[in-house]
Amino acid sequence: METFQSILAKKLSSALANAGLPDAGELTTATDPRFGDYQTNAALVLGKQPTENPRALAKKIVAHLRVDDFCETPVVAGAGFINFKLRPDAIAKKTIEVLRHAGLGVAKAKPKQRIVIDFGSPNVAKPMHVGHIRSTVLGDALARIAQFLGHEVIRDNHIGDWGMQFGMVIYGWKNLLDQRALQRNPLAEIVRVYKETNERATRDPQVREACRQELVKLQAGDKKNIDIWNECVAFSMQDFQHVFEMLDVHYDVQCGESFYHDRLPGVVERLLKSGIAEISEAAVVVFFRDNPELADKPCIIRKRDGGFNYATTDLATVDYRVKELKADAIWYVVGAPQTLHLKQIFEIARRESYAADLRHIAFGSVLGEDRKLMKTRSGENVPLRDLLEEACNRARKIVDEKNPHLGEDEKIDIAQKIGVGAVKYTDLSQYRMTDYIFSWEKMLSLHGNTAPYLQNAYVRIRSIFRKAGEPAPKIDKLILSDPAETNIAKRLCQFAEIVPQILNDFRPNILANYLFELANSFHTFYEACPVLKSEEPARSSRLVLCDLTGRVLQCGLDLLGIKVPEKM
Ligand code: ARG
Repeated sequence: METFQSILAKKLSSALANAGLPDAGELTTATDPRFGDYQTNAALVLGKQPTENPRALAKKIVAHLRVDDFCETPVVAGAGFINFKLRPDAIAKKTIEVLRHAGLGVAKAKPKQRIVIDFGSPNVAKPMHVGHIRSTVLGDALARIAQFLGHEVIRDNHIGDWGMQFGMVIYGWKNLLDQRALQRNPLAEIVRVYKETNERATRDPQVREACRQELVKLQAGDKKNIDIWNECVAFSMQDFQHVFEMLDVHYDVQCGESFYHDRLPGVVERLLKSGIAEISEAAVVVFFRDNPELADKPCIIRKRDGGFNYATTDLATVDYRVKELKADAIWYVVGAPQTLHLKQIFEIARRESYAADLRHIAFGSVLGEDRKLMKTRSGENVPLRDLLEEACNRARKIVDEKNPHLGEDEKIDIAQKIGVGAVKYTDLSQYRMTDYIFSWEKMLSLHGNTAPYLQNAYVRIRSIFRKAGEPAPKIDKLILSDPAETNIAKRLCQFAEIVPQILNDFRPNILANYLFELANSFHTFYEACPVLKSEEPARSSRLVLCDLTGRVLQCGLDLLGIKVPEKM
């Protein structure tokens, strides 16, 4: 389906061509709705030369624009903007098209790509903490959106299940483990043992050396150490799985760091052979001498003692994803502190001539109400599992207050949708690079730009249909007589313009804000226009607007990984 924006962009191109002008400028939604629905800065861009007057150019372009079948006559405004205002009959027609389109008007992306998305990726022997929320929630939303746009998506959980921390975990397991505590809460005990060892190792060089020995033994395949490692991985995976289930996040592959272990010597050999890496002070290193940003930041891929690094694993990972998973693109949804690491990886991959498009989708931090990194009272990272449970408990109170007569199972289900939805939405409605303050009050409020507000709008629509006792009627023509009707219809047509834009810069917050505005427009419409009490044909037309709003809200929230309850 073509959107108003795509039609207008084409019309603009032909007008420019017919006026003998080069293609220029952008066609965007209007910044101020008082002046119209869309605007273009084409004349301003073309009028940069002093001889060309942008306003005169704009008038020339307007004279060549053929848009009267769906717009009022375009108006030149300000320094040379051209404004377009849609006609209500055209909006009504387009809305019916959206209504009948399986993807609510959203066209499939071209070309279709196979995209590996690396997100979540927690570390074994450490519980998932709020910092993993952003990666998990953002990665999952991007996966859903890419899939909806027709891409083939492979969700990959690059678990940190190998590496330095295991020397300490194994040392701790052998020397400090409390079997009873392990039975009670395995992950907590493993974490305790790891932390205590870590502290001892900082103080005592002998412990440090003993940990290193354990790591060397593990990497050499020592049976006892491998067994301990396996047990730790299994305990951790159980915990991760529980959290992923609560979040309704599902992976297609879970190739952790250990999966690549056997491939690491091959990576080093390959890079040495191609001359990309060199031996420097007994280590194998990649230098980026001709890259100003990385010139003084070499990447060590094999240490002097023969051990491999996080970077070596990531290089093996790129190879696997491109050659075996046949990825056209790889998206790394990883926090901003790993920017340098990924720059190095991408630069090495470029030198190795991999054809895939590699992207780092970075994000900022989650802060506590004191504006510092979010921590528990005792200064620990807040485990994700506790956080989600608290969200559901708090949401349960809202359900108890709003709708005390619902059955117990229904209440549990609704509280989960609200609680988990609120946590996800808080994250996704922000620009990903900004740090945000985690506030229960704000995220669970039924007013403002929150998940419960959007879920409530959906619930209101469902209750209209429960009252009506019938589904939305089938109609061929919408009647848009009230400005509030025109406004909501216009918004519904914009869904198809918004969704593809998200992937330009990986910003699901564009969708969140759109849904918020849609819900606002719906409330205005609902207050201005009686639905069930109005006469035909307005009644049917309004019911259709309600139904389509509900479907767009549901679909949009689903793209963010948020579920809608039928009641709340
Ligand atoms: N496990 C890492 C962490 O928690 C994230 C892994 C990101 N993905 C990657 N391919 N390096 O920091």
